[in-house]
Amino acid sequence: MERTVNYAIVGCGRIAPFHADGIAMAPSARLVAVCDIVEEKARDFAASHGNVKYYTDAEEMFRNESIDVCSVCVPSGNHHEIVILAAKYGINVLCEKPLDVNLTNMQAMVDACNASGVRLGAIFQRRTYQAAQEVKKAIDSGAFGKITLASASLLFYRDQEYYDSGDWRGTWELDGGGALMNQGVHGIDMIAWLMGGVESVNADCQRLVWDTQVEDTAVIRVRYKNGAIGTIEGTTSVYPGLETIFRIGGEKGSVIFGDNKIYKWIFKDNTPPCPVIEDEYAGTNCSYDNCTPHAVQIEDMAQAIINGTKPMLTGEEAIQSVKVILSIYRSARESKEIKVDNYND
Ligand SMILES: NC(=O)c1ccc[n+]([C@@H]2O[C@H](COP(=O)([O-])OP(=O)(O)OC[C@H]3O[C@@H](n4cnc5c(N)ncnc54)[C@H](O)[C@@H]3O)[C@@H](O)[C@H]2O)c1
Repeated sequence: MERTVNYAIVGCGRIAPFHADGIAMAPSARLVAVCDIVEEKARDFAASHGNVKYYTDAEEMFRNESIDVCSVCVPSGNHHEIVILAAKYGINVLCEKPLDVNLTNMQAMVDACNASGVRLGAIFQRRTYQAAQEVKKAIDSGAFGKITLASASLLFYRDQEYYDSGDWRGTWELDGGGALMNQGVHGIDMIAWLMGGVESVNADCQRLVWDTQVEDTAVIRVRYKNGAIGTIEGTTSVYPGLETIFRIGGEKGSVIFGDNKIYKWIFKDNTPPCPVIEDEYAGTNCSYDNCTPHAVQIEDMAQAIINGTKPMLTGEEAIQSVKVILSIYRSARESKEIKVDNYND
């Protein structure tokens, strides 16, 4: 008989419906309970997602329910508390991005999960987009020749109302940063993943518009581990928010792509040919109907449990993009180039 993996969700805010809907779509997953410290949120969320049990205390839920995986959807700087608690109860974790907001917390999460023998998976759902998968394949096959330039334009817009909508938003302690740590982290993860890692950063981070503690506008000069150089721009200050754009070019080809769209795909001898992307949410790992990128990662974690393997994106790997961002912040503060591998809190 096919095994079903029991999921619970901690944190019933904005991102939680993506998990609940993804769990409903994923063939091997089912939602058994949810938790939020605000009782009304937990109760309403449970009522609109299959009338599952709800709790206001994560530990009580972990103690009372039979849970295989916990989706962690609390504010970023609280991720470690829930992940370490879940590990204590032998529960696998699928944690929202960013993994946490400093290296000490993230390492403690990885260590706790390793010590308990549970999996720590991290959400970076944009890695499942077909455009990203196709670019990764082209890079890995050597189609670009030597890659020389790789840039990311991550221009979002969030208004003051957004920053005022939760006490944690736009704070160093719980958001961990601004345009880069919250919104830009997806694109920074993407470009770092595609380039095989970031060697060093040289950054200018500014708070130009919003009344927060953190940056809303940033430009970074980047050296990648594969020898390429490039820039990253990240904002929440550019109305109305422009599309995410990545530009990667080298000796034998260039690609411009965005959120599951390929704008340019040009290679010598037309090899490899430009892939066709039919569906906005097309995910190459997705073999069932109507799936979302979150569902792909939720099913992937369920399969990892069923098959005794690792999830597609582990906690160890998810540390890297946060480390790049922490290095960017240090570079901006100290006005100098920072080597990412040398970063320590
Ligand atoms: N993958 C994505 O594209 C994406 C998009 C948005 C947010 N996120 C991430 O999801 C996380 C949550 O963001 P959000 O926008 O949903 O925030 P939110 O403020 O809307 O929701 C967070 C919820 O967690 C609850 N909470 C706080 N501490 C708790 C605890 N100890 N136990 C139980 N519940 C607790 C709060 O009451 C709140 O309801 C953040 O880390 C954010 O970066 C990811």
